Parts: sequence; structure tokens; C-alpha cells
Amino acid sequence: MNDNNFALCEKIIPSSYVEQASQALKTRENRVKVFLQHRKLPNEGWDDETIEMLLQDLSLMDSNNFPNNCGAGEREARIVSQLVARRHFRLGHGIGRSGDITAVQPKAAGSSLIMKLANAMVLDIIKLAGVQSVTAGFIVPMATGMTMVLCLLALRPRRPKAKYVIWPRIDQKSCFKAIISAGFVPIVLENDLQGDELRTHVEDLKSKITELGPENIVCILSTTSCFAPRGPDKLEEISRLCSTHDIPHLVNNAYGIQSSKCMHLIQQAHKCGRVDAFIQSTDKNFLVPVGGAVIAGFDSKFIDEIGKFYPGRASGTPSLDIFITLLSLGANGYKALLKQRKEVFTYLKQQLSECAAKHGERVLHTPSNTISLGMSLTIPVGTVDDSIAATQFGSMLFKRNVSGTRVVAHGEVKEISGFKFDGFGAHSSRYPCVYLTAAAAIGMTINEVDDFIKRLDKVLSKWKSQFLDQSVMIQQIDDDTDKNKPQDDEKSLND
Ligand SMILES: Cc1ncc(COP(=O)(O)O)c(C=O)c1O
Repeated sequence: MNDNNFALCEKIIPSSYVEQASQALKTRENRVKVFLQHRKLPNEGWDDETIEMLLQDLSLMDSNNFPNNCGAGEREARIVSQLVARRHFRLGHGIGRSGDITAVQPKAAGSSLIMKLANAMVLDIIKLAGVQSVTAGFIVPMATGMTMVLCLLALRPRRPKAKYVIWPRIDQKSCFKAIISAGFVPIVLENDLQGDELRTHVEDLKSKITELGPENIVCILSTTSCFAPRGPDKLEEISRLCSTHDIPHLVNNAYGIQSSKCMHLIQQAHKCGRVDAFIQSTDKNFLVPVGGAVIAGFDSKFIDEIGKFYPGRASGTPSLDIFITLLSLGANGYKALLKQRKEVFTYLKQQLSECAAKHGERVLHTPSNTISLGMSLTIPVGTVDDSIAATQFGSMLFKRNVSGTRVVAHGEVKEISGFKFDGFGAHSSRYPCVYLTAAAAIGMTINEVDDFIKRLDKVLSKWKSQFLDQSVMIQQIDDDTDKNKPQDDEKSLND
């Protein structure tokens, strides 16, 4: 409502009422003004009404919502279902143009503003989470693996002779498959077991670089956030090597924004060496539905190049989800979630340690992993095969509606796109024990930890008691595996 209309309202109802109401509206509009002026994540989150007011205005700025629009093109953002239209706030043009995902669309001023502002807010979050030197970044409507493909492909013109991607092993398929999908050859670097924790084998990495020749290496693809007992890669050492040998360095930071440790590693790696881009998923860091990732980096030119590599237009939904979520949380709301996550991690570690000790197990010592924890699972020698017992344990948790845990046994061999992985799941071909992992991810609450520990305690008691009577165990295994277990990736309920 503009001032002229308010004046007209005063002819209908008493002006004191209009004055009061217009002040209330102006308070909301003022928030929008400050946001557009500074293009910064607000400190305090907005209420839903203010967000909806802005979304309504932005949506009406797209040509499909113009009162007199005459769409004569083949793509005019016509939406037949009103349910779908409402789900998207009547935004239908998506983001980007055919040659650049970050380009502004003439037909869609509102959608373009949402995309630009969501990107700006994400950069603010990356800075407040610990990577202060980041200079560029944008949201892509694809999950982490596909986004990694885009980043790898963007390196091709810069590395015309190269075909190898050195990948310190992490037993999660997406990024490994990204290397294959991009048409490159993965060179899997086995991890170094340091106590219970698996870390980058820096000496082997050096030898690999020499053996392959730096000019033949597309990039090193390292990982920060990952399931225990793997720790984050030794980013500083890797980035120094990348700098010395002029090799690009991509970092899979899938759920690392929520961890000050992962973010600090990226910041330090940039300071002391080379990081070309780091990639993180939107759902895992911002509590939105799966569908997006953020590509960020320190060299705006390279980040722009990646944006220009995206062929065609893209869904605007992940940008819209982030736009709404970050306005709703504000910087303070996001910081509170980060703080809560740290506290929940400490609590989970303590509770898991107590539960483990009660059952003669222990939490694996993985000090550099600040999100995921591992707990040993001892299977008495001569009772039952490790892998069968582990599968049963996973099934028992699944049956009790525990999701997200992984039970990893020895000796699983998996073939992925022609590459064989011994001990798949453990990030190592010879991890010494069977274990369970659990994570304290952003959004998890103390109550959820309590619930998880209660169910885990019951499952441990039941599972362990069965070793005393193998015939019961075999019967139980049949029951659990037949009826209650997901068929593929059976021990990992997290993929
Ligand atoms: C360490 C790691 N990298 C990559 C991914 C893949 O992410 P996406 O499913 O978003 O492609 C995951 C998913 O769990 C992950 O944990």
C-alpha cells in the first residue's frame, strides 16, 4: 500500500486507525528496504508474514504474473495446478539463462532478485561459519555429487592434458561417481590409520603426484565432513602440495558448514596453499529439502566460470528455500543452531561413551571428527560371521525407527563403476574393528540423543544376549533381514 492509497483509506475509515496500520506496514517495509540496501543476511530473523509480503511482491515482478502479460514464447511459466503455483509462490521462471546459472532473466526480475539475494546470504553464512576469506559462491539446484561433476567439468579447459583425479578415500559413493561421470580417472588414495582415526596419507599423496606427473592431474578432491572413524582430510598439507605443484584443489564440504572445525580447515588451507572451490549441500547445512548445493571459493573468476558451465536454465526452488530459511533464521538464528549442534555433539559423545562402556564397548577415538562418532561392536570369535552380525544389528536399529546410523563390518567388497573397494564402508581396506556410527548433525536435539541412546541400549542388550545362544541368533537374523531390512545399502541407512 503506498501513501496515496493510505490517504484514500482515510476517507473511508478514521485517519488515526489508518495511521496506526500504515506504521505497522512500514515497519515491515523498512526491514525489506534495509535488506535490499545492504544485501546482507539480517541479524534477527523475520516473521513469516514479512517474508510472505516480500515474496508476494517479488513474485508479482515476474512476467507470468503481470496483469497485462501476453506470453508468446515456448516457456512462459504457465502453471496449470494452483497447488503447484502456491507451492512455488507463483514463481515459475527458475534461475539463470541458457549460458550462465547466475545470469539475470529479463522476464523474471523477482526470481532473479531471489537468486542474487539468496547467494549473497549464503556467502554471509559461510563467512560467519568460519571461512572469512570467501569471495564468491552460488546455489546450484543439484545435490553435492552432481555439483561436483559441474566443478570437475569446469576444470577441463584449464587442464587440457589431465585425466586423473586424486581422491583420498571416503566410502560414500557420490563424489567418487562424480569423478567417473565427469569422464576422469579416479586415483584412490588409501587413508592412514592413526590410532582409531583415518586421515590423509600425505607421504603417499606426494608419491602419487610424482608418479602421475602434476600436469596429468585434474585436481585433488579432498573431503572435510565425513563419517567416523575417518577424520577430515589434512587440508593444509594438501593445499600446500597443490600450490607447489600447480594442481587445482576441490573440497567436498558436504555437511561442513555446520562444523567450525571443517570451516577452519578450509580457511587455513586457503591461507597456506590452494583451494579452488569448496562444495556443500543445502539440505545438510541449512535444514531444507534435498535438492541444492553451494559452490564457493576464493577466486571469483573461477567460480564465475563454473556458473557459466551449467547448461540451460535451472530450478529456482533450492534458492527460494534458502532465501526463506535464511531470512527466517537471520544470522543469530543460524548461530544458535551452530551452538546447539556443538552442545548436542558433546552430549552425544558422553552418552554414547556411557552406553558403550555399559556393554563392554568403547567410542572410537576420532578427535578431528566433530560431527560423527564411532562405537565398537564386539562379535565374540567363533560365534557368527561379522558381516551377518553387523547386518542384524543395523536391522534391529532400523526396526526401532533409528535412521542415519551405519554399521560397518570387515571385509565387504564393493565394486563401483569397475573399481573394487575392499572393506567398503570403513574408508579403509583393513579397519581393525566392527563399529556403529552416529552423527550429531545440525538440528538434532538433546531429546533425540536421549531417544537414540535408549533404543541403542535396548538393541545392544538384545543383540549381545544372542551370542549366548547361536540358534536364537540365526533365527533372529532370518526374521530381521527378511522382513525389516532395506534391501540395498543395508547397513547404511544414511545414503
Ligand atoms: C561426505 C559426503 N559427500 C558427499 C555426499 C553426497 O551428497 P549428495 O547426496 O548431496 O550428492 C554425502 C552424502 O551423504 C556425504 O556424506
